[in-house]
Amino acid sequence: MSELQTKILHILKDGAFHSGESLGEKLGVSRTAVWKQLQKLEKLGLQLESVKGTGYRVQAGFEPLDQATILQKLATKSGLAPQRLDVFQSIDSTNKYLRERAGDPDYFRSAVFAESQTLGRGRRGKTWVSPFGANIYLSILWDFELGAESLGGLSLAIGVAVRRALLTIGLDGVQLKWPNDIYIGQKKLGGILLEMVGDPAGHCSVVVGVGINVSMSSASAAEIDQDWTDINTELAEPCSRNQLASALVGNIFDLLHDFQEVGFTQYRDEWQLADAFKGLQATVSTPREAISGTVLGVDAGGALEMRLVNGETQRFIGGELSLRLAK
Ligand code: BTN
Repeated sequence: MSELQTKILHILKDGAFHSGESLGEKLGVSRTAVWKQLQKLEKLGLQLESVKGTGYRVQAGFEPLDQATILQKLATKSGLAPQRLDVFQSIDSTNKYLRERAGDPDYFRSAVFAESQTLGRGRRGKTWVSPFGANIYLSILWDFELGAESLGGLSLAIGVAVRRALLTIGLDGVQLKWPNDIYIGQKKLGGILLEMVGDPAGHCSVVVGVGINVSMSSASAAEIDQDWTDINTELAEPCSRNQLASALVGNIFDLLHDFQEVGFTQYRDEWQLADAFKGLQATVSTPREAISGTVLGVDAGGALEMRLVNGETQRFIGGELSLRLAK
């Protein structure tokens, strides 16, 4: 996004009406130039109200993501901070961006946010609905030395870190749905997408992608094919996206810092306490079949354990599987 768009958003974030003329005057550009940028932002999904003769305003509580604010609020137990932290206004996918930079020393332990994604990616080839300025789209790049085998359960552990971050902004009652979903009250609040690049047996890079719904408009949500919720529905006060952004980076960095040493076992109990499906009848679908049973929990490696009708316990390893409540 252009610098002009950023400046316009910083004026509009007060939630008041501003005419095209006054915006133009403040920024030293024409009314038409302002209008063109606003149109572009609207196309990206910015919720903009325009009233003839009065001007433009964004929804109350709109808070642009800001690199300096996110870094200033950042606190990690490990003392680690991202080598770089970028905020894009629009990008195809934050995961794709960092995947393409895996192994580049300039991006070692870096974090990327975007205000909107044009090709946001979800699990199992799905699209992640990513309208402008409404949610959190974050990716983090991290290197591991011991290969993919040492990373069993990492994506579940990231769920624990995301839940911890949500607790810091006052959101309790967050649950985790195997393998990678963030839930509240059987509705999806967010998701995690881990992608690995490099040697599965040795040095590899992991891109941790996190999408959290903060204030999803019903127009954007029309594209979501499952029950969903957002933070502003669940919290009495609107959430500060910059505060949440810092809490996410801090908690995920601490987890990534510790994970190779302690493994999933360290996070398993916390994961199980938050399990949205524990004890419920559910169905696991693989590309070939659907298997139903009672969800028991997860094992030390993060595999789902389910008791089948014949009394046997079956384990399922993440990947392309999906888990749903039995009908
Ligand atoms: C899921 O399907 O539940 C996982 C969704 C992950 C979405 C996030 S948004 C930031 C990052 N960039 C992407 O393209 N996807 C992930």
